[in-house]
Amino acid sequence: MTLKNVHKSYGSRSIYEGLDFQVRRRERWCVMGINGAGKSTLLKLVAGASEPDNGTVARGPSVRMGYFAQHAMEVLEGERTVFQTLEGAFPQAGQAPLRALAGCFGFSGDEIEKKCRVLSGGEKARLVMALMLFDPPNLLVLDEPTNHLDIATKEMLITALSQYEGTMLFVSHDRHFLAALSNRVLELTPEGIHTYGGGYTEYVERTGREAPGLRS
Ligand SMILES: Nc1ncnc2c1ncn2[C@@H]1O[C@H](COP(=O)(O)OP(=O)(O)O)[C@@H](O)[C@H]1O
Ligand SMILES: [Mg+2]
Repeated sequence: MTLKNVHKSYGSRSIYEGLDFQVRRRERWCVMGINGAGKSTLLKLVAGASEPDNGTVARGPSVRMGYFAQHAMEVLEGERTVFQTLEGAFPQAGQAPLRALAGCFGFSGDEIEKKCRVLSGGEKARLVMALMLFDPPNLLVLDEPTNHLDIATKEMLITALSQYEGTMLFVSHDRHFLAALSNRVLELTPEGIHTYGGGYTEYVERTGREAPGLRS
């Protein structure tokens, strides 16, 4: 992904004025910055969920992207069950693989008959992850994916993603998630962006700073 001279404003509030940033194969970028710094905006631009006012966002021809938006769970249809949601997304997949998929994400037996409107935040997040990871993309764009997960599910996701061989761009306020999964750091500051060629752990060692807004 290559962003060149990207400008983005919301009304009179300017978020990016000439952003240049590139994500190469196998890089795993964590994006850090205070609340309102423009992290979600960057991920939306990369995912194509938002257009730059000026400049270009170019995607390599082989990129297949999965995007977990910060409010991804709101897209689930309340009246559909867990199983119907998976079936709707993958109509060509058989019952057995979809049941296995649901099982991997913690929906056992009758739980797949639950309607989305009764699911807890963690269950919704698990369902959205299952939708995203069934047919794995080679670029994952994840905006605070662990916010609603219990510790066991969060650890499961970290384990799964540490075996994932694709490219990642993500926002997280979870120290373990940041340390386990990043090999690049992008810092958004009022003065502009800073990039670090190592992962989060090296960033902390080098700068003596932790990410703003850490929750654990
Ligand atoms: N659709 C929108 N309309 C107006 N302002 C927005 C919109 N989306 C984000 N903003 C504002 O832009 C700034 C950056 O937002 P965002 O990218 O969500 O930041 P972050 O994810 O780093 O907290 C914030 O001040 C936010 O209120
Ligand atoms: Mg955000």
